[in-house]
Amino acid sequence: MSASAPIDLRSDTVTRPDAAMRRAMAGAEVGDDVFHDDPTVQRLEALAAERLGKEAALFVASGTMANLVAVLSHTRPGDEALTGDESHVFNYEAAGAARVGGVQLRPLPNAPDGGLAAADVRAAIREPDIHAPRSALLCLENTHNRCGGAALTGAATAAAAAIAREAGLAVHLDGARIFNAAIATGEAAAELAASADSVCFCLSKGLGCPVGSLLCGPREFVERARRERKMLGGGMRQAGVLAAAGIHALECNVARLAEDHANARALAGGLARLGPFAVDAPATNIVVLRVRAGTRDGWLTAFAAAGVRAVPFGEGRIRMVTHRDAGEAAVAEALRRLEHATAAVAAG
Ligand SMILES: Cc1ncc(COP(=O)(O)O)c(C=O)c1O
Repeated sequence: MSASAPIDLRSDTVTRPDAAMRRAMAGAEVGDDVFHDDPTVQRLEALAAERLGKEAALFVASGTMANLVAVLSHTRPGDEALTGDESHVFNYEAAGAARVGGVQLRPLPNAPDGGLAAADVRAAIREPDIHAPRSALLCLENTHNRCGGAALTGAATAAAAAIAREAGLAVHLDGARIFNAAIATGEAAAELAASADSVCFCLSKGLGCPVGSLLCGPREFVERARRERKMLGGGMRQAGVLAAAGIHALECNVARLAEDHANARALAGGLARLGPFAVDAPATNIVVLRVRAGTRDGWLTAFAAAGVRAVPFGEGRIRMVTHRDAGEAAVAEALRRLEHATAAVAAG
């Protein structure tokens, strides 16, 4: 890390494939995956299904595509899907469920831990009525991005899922960062996803791949999802080059996510000591600052000028995310720069 290079804490998506991952990609055996000819994609899909405890998996371009394909595969136009009001699918996916799937998303209040209250889920499920949309799907998220990287336990997910499934709804878990949740809770990713019909996770965040997500579930669901992915233009050809990065990540980059969590705790502790920010102790790799003095955008500008990149995260909130390309030394250096920036702002 050079003394002046910016430290990029905008997201764990900024991670770049390292030399070992690039070697795995360069050596990948490939074929045309739309013709089911790519052995490396097939290996990745089998590995993902096994890690998530599901029958099958589908390799897709992104987390957003995974969630959209899941919604399309679980619903029909005119249906309603319940989700948290802070969820990624509701806030950050360009209303894809509504635009592409004709599915109405119904937001329920997210608890600070990223979960949904059982009573809210129960009350939101509609009785069959020709006037009403059909309640078809419950979407949960773990870890929960806008809830500061909170990690839900398998039991919390199961409690909400049971209510939905009893009423005939399917359950999809947006597990973009489910391996972070696994480390935080001490439960295997498969246990966290056991009560969901489908679960997706991202390779392109803390796991360090350039691209890709996996959507996992029952074989029949995954075959339907394969068709929806094709409809969206997401059928990929010699995608084994990308899948090889995913296999490498699942084999080599999961356990090290614990380092990102430790670095996030150090970052949060240091930021809290600076004064102008309220910072909760992070459960995983996402640190959220609530601005107590000054303005959010003023602080973001001051941070950028000091060489630390972060993102706005709603009214009065700033997000920083730790990752493999910003390790312990980078976080210590970021704190040093942020301390200078804060002192400079205080001095006027
Ligand atoms: C919880 C969650 N779900 C889904 C996504 C979407 O992933 P992608 O950026 O790969 O579309 C993100 C991305 O940050 C996320 O945080």
